[in-house]
Amino acid sequence: MTDSFEPQILAFCCKYCAYAAADLAGSMRLKYPDNIKLIQVPCTGRVDIIHILRAIEDGADGVYVAGCLEGECHFLEGNFKARRRVKYVKDTLEELGIEPERVEMYNLSSAMGPRFAEIANEMAEKIKKLGPTPVKS
Ligand code: FES
Repeated sequence: MTDSFEPQILAFCCKYCAYAAADLAGSMRLKYPDNIKLIQVPCTGRVDIIHILRAIEDGADGVYVAGCLEGECHFLEGNFKARRRVKYVKDTLEELGIEPERVEMYNLSSAMGPRFAEIANEMAEKIKKLGPTPVKS
């Protein structure tokens, strides 16, 4: 893979935790790749399978869903639903011959700015190693 490949990554972030953690990471001046596009959602339970698959179909090299810590979802089970949906998408991708690692689920709190940056960097590195999505070719 060429070093010039900059993956396009989409992150669905719950406004109560991951999105707030992203803000915190920003105020702490922590570095994370700017090719990660954040989409604020009211709860990860609102992220449907179709949203993730559509992002992949539209050419995202990686997608992740970042929700509240387990047991701390403001809508009780939203993050558990999201985890099950992410698992479903991973299984579907595998059946299609696309690396399931392109899609992940994370849990964090609004105070975890450094963890937010770490996750973003981890995802960017991992997707860079995988290379561009086969969906585009
Ligand atoms: Fe954050 Fe549900 S409110 S994942």
